Amino acid sequence: MSKVLLIGNGAREHAIASALTRADVELHAHMDKLNPGIAALATSTTINTLMDYRKLPPLSGFDYAVIGPEGPLSVGIADYLEGQGVPSIGPIQRCAKIEVSKSFAREIIQKAAKRANPEFAIVRSLDGIQHFEEKVGVDNIVVKPDGLTGGKGVKIFGEHLHSREELEAYATEEIGNHGIVILEEKLVGTEFTVQSFVDGKNIEIMPLVRDYKRAYDNDEGPNTGSMGSYSRSDHNLAYVSDNDLEEAKKVMTSVVKEIKKRTRYDYKGILYGQFMKTNKGPKVIEFNARFGDPEAMNVLSILDTSMDDICLSIIDGKLIKPEFREQATVCVYVVPEGYPGKSVQKDKPITIEEGIQAELYYASVYQKDEQVFTTGSRSLGVLGKGASISEARKIAYDSAQKITGAVRFRSDIAKDIT
Ligand code: AMP
Ligand code: GLY
Repeated sequence: MSKVLLIGNGAREHAIASALTRADVELHAHMDKLNPGIAALATSTTINTLMDYRKLPPLSGFDYAVIGPEGPLSVGIADYLEGQGVPSIGPIQRCAKIEVSKSFAREIIQKAAKRANPEFAIVRSLDGIQHFEEKVGVDNIVVKPDGLTGGKGVKIFGEHLHSREELEAYATEEIGNHGIVILEEKLVGTEFTVQSFVDGKNIEIMPLVRDYKRAYDNDEGPNTGSMGSYSRSDHNLAYVSDNDLEEAKKVMTSVVKEIKKRTRYDYKGILYGQFMKTNKGPKVIEFNARFGDPEAMNVLSILDTSMDDICLSIIDGKLIKPEFREQATVCVYVVPEGYPGKSVQKDKPITIEEGIQAELYYASVYQKDEQVFTTGSRSLGVLGKGASISEARKIAYDSAQKITGAVRFRSDIAKDIT
């Protein structure tokens, strides 16, 4: 039996914990806040920051670690663990740069699969900003800081930036913070998520997922960590053609190769590609060095192959092919009222009624004397599974209705999808 250290405490890590314990591993969870769902599955838990290797639990006896969030990857927790003889599912710091640094990511894609990049420029001055404005038009620009921003640093002209002055002020401020800023052409189309297991050389992709990032119905309101997602029983999405999928796979394989070439290290773990299906084919919005949240719940809840076997095969560099059940999944995120905003309803009790048919994944909640409370972030991922999207959707929404308190959810996740 493998002894596994799981680092992280969101709903994504709850889904990872669930897949690992289904594969009969002995699970130890290292969390910065106690996640009641993960704690219930783990043999033991430690609570401490995830960002400092000195705060990890004693490492003796662990066969490997699974690192859920990007934070610990960005500070080199995988490097430390490897030095201590514990291999990680999650890339070392140099390779995790594909998520951490948007400029690094664009440069890697430029070498590996130029066609998947939008027009972009990495600029260091107002001159550079104005040069790019002339090239693509100011109203076609997306500004991205060169670091982890939790999805909140990206500003799009027409949505977050409303004039040339505003755009130049924001981009200049970011040059002040990081020395550079990334400017990109605004991509138009529908997004899709391609998650893959990577053993350094080979990649195996998981069912495609559509993620809903906006706070309110009809994709209105600010971006959030995500309000829900779906995947279909055929593991594809209606608007993604076989050619698009082949192309996305090719891009990801080339990127893994290019990372190796550039860093001389193997990328091992999860590579998440967020693509935009445009009228010029799939283009990369960004790469992440981890599972998506909620996308992890969509795919891991239908994983038939042992997660332990997959992890061991990644470590050995002999990736096995994962099998997923032919089921549709719909995930609805229950969030505190006011999320994402300053008036978010924190520390409010949530009642979870009896008879919930969906799988519940705990996100950012805490428990006191059996009572679950909200925090300032998303509360619970509610995942329905079924033969079709409509079946999965009914289970997810019937269950989400049974979660009451100062919470809300979007009502249009996977609406009108067949
Ligand atoms: P990111 O932090 O890169 O995921 O960006 C957050 C969101 O901004 C993405 O989910 C997209 O919806 C949007 N976005 C990022 N880059 C672009 C782009 N080049 N064109 C259009 N939208 C983008
Ligand atoms: N669902 C988007 C992300 O995990 O980054």
